[in-house]
Amino acid sequence: MDKLIIQGNIPLTGEIKISGAKNAALPILAASLLIPEPIQISNVPQLQDVATIMSLLGQMGVRMSLDDKSNIEADASNVTSFFAPYELVRTMRASVLVLGPLLGRFGEANVSLPGGCAIGTRPVDQHLKGMRALGADIEVENGYIKAKAKKRLEGTTIVMDIVTVTGTENIMMAAVLAKGQTIIQNAAREPEVEDLANFLNALGAKISGAGTATIIIDGVEKLTGGTYSVLPDRIETGTYLTAAAITRGKIKLKNARPETLESVLLKLQEAGAFIDTGSDWISLDMKGNRPRAITLSTAPYPAFPTDMQAQMMALNTIAEGTGIITETVFENRFMHVQELLRMGANISLKGNTAICTGIEALQGAPTMATDLRASASLVLAGLAAVGSTTIDRIYHIDRGYECIEEKLTQLGARIHRVPN
Ligand code: EPU
Repeated sequence: MDKLIIQGNIPLTGEIKISGAKNAALPILAASLLIPEPIQISNVPQLQDVATIMSLLGQMGVRMSLDDKSNIEADASNVTSFFAPYELVRTMRASVLVLGPLLGRFGEANVSLPGGCAIGTRPVDQHLKGMRALGADIEVENGYIKAKAKKRLEGTTIVMDIVTVTGTENIMMAAVLAKGQTIIQNAAREPEVEDLANFLNALGAKISGAGTATIIIDGVEKLTGGTYSVLPDRIETGTYLTAAAITRGKIKLKNARPETLESVLLKLQEAGAFIDTGSDWISLDMKGNRPRAITLSTAPYPAFPTDMQAQMMALNTIAEGTGIITETVFENRFMHVQELLRMGANISLKGNTAICTGIEALQGAPTMATDLRASASLVLAGLAAVGSTTIDRIYHIDRGYECIEEKLTQLGARIHRVPN
């Protein structure tokens, strides 16, 4: 397993380009199953999770090709299998996103039930509730979701019991080809949900309200081929901004979308960052100052994203004052805390709350990545720490950050990968 080694305590400076959003690219690629003609998708990040969904779709008969400029062509004119095996779903939970499109277009799907994962139990009951409401018969047998629709799915009103991102996306994809109108209430409002709706609309779907809590889908007979460019990644954007803040640096991020991460920008300003934005760029300057500790609570969009919680915790470890971070979305998303403590951080945990009093400097240490965003927080801590930090098991980072060491090197960091 590869490792990253970082010599820290260097302010990041310079400019980099943000990649396409992982959590938009995955549902968009899954949605290719709905379309019986070739589609071209650009700004797709080259990540392990993208490779996993491409491999899953390939096994189903979708012809896929990828060029070296982040463009993917997908052709689902000849889907031969409706099966998503455990071996793939267990490596990436987002594989469950094939359920909605398969049911919507073919009336059949056999998808492994995703298990729990490092950050929580993460059930899919809301996805199944939505599919049943649209008329599918669903059995969960031997660890598999066996779904069948005897006739075309039929639109209805679905009130989600909790806000779920992939649950909303799965139901939206199933409803696109259904008969009549589907209304999803208490829908997730994340920009990635809106990006999926924009993609589907570009190919002939009739979806309105995406990005709000009520999404209305008027079923159409068929989608057609076309092109689409994936939204820039707001979590990658927030991670690099926080990397600059923790190192007291000054950076500019191009190909970013400031309006998708307002809650994060506000917290970074509270921490003392000077932030400037244009329509497709963001710059951050700490003017050499130590950040101030911030207090926040995670919640669904537009509130502060759980996917930025670990990075903000890293920032608090060296900040001035005490910050309190409450995680409300996932029940077990504090694994980075133990590793940060090994670098000298002062954090105490009380249930889903972490109280952190900043220290002057972290010390480099050997650490282990446990999930994607926890790993990102260790990279940030390593960039700020005095001395050398080793991060083991970085395959987690490769799932969600395209070329992380190249981008950080471009910003002046001393970071390299040691293959095992
Ligand atoms: N939940 C249920 N039942 C369901 C679905 C969800 O109880 O049927 C619960 C979950 O257990 C969790 C909460 O609802 O406590 C929210 O989960 P959600 O379904 O919104 O998460 P997700 O769709 O599985 C996506 C992202 C995650 C991100 C969350 C929250 C993708 C592929 N993944 O997951 O991204 O943390 O939304 O914003 O879009 C990451 O990129 O590192 C990542 C984990």
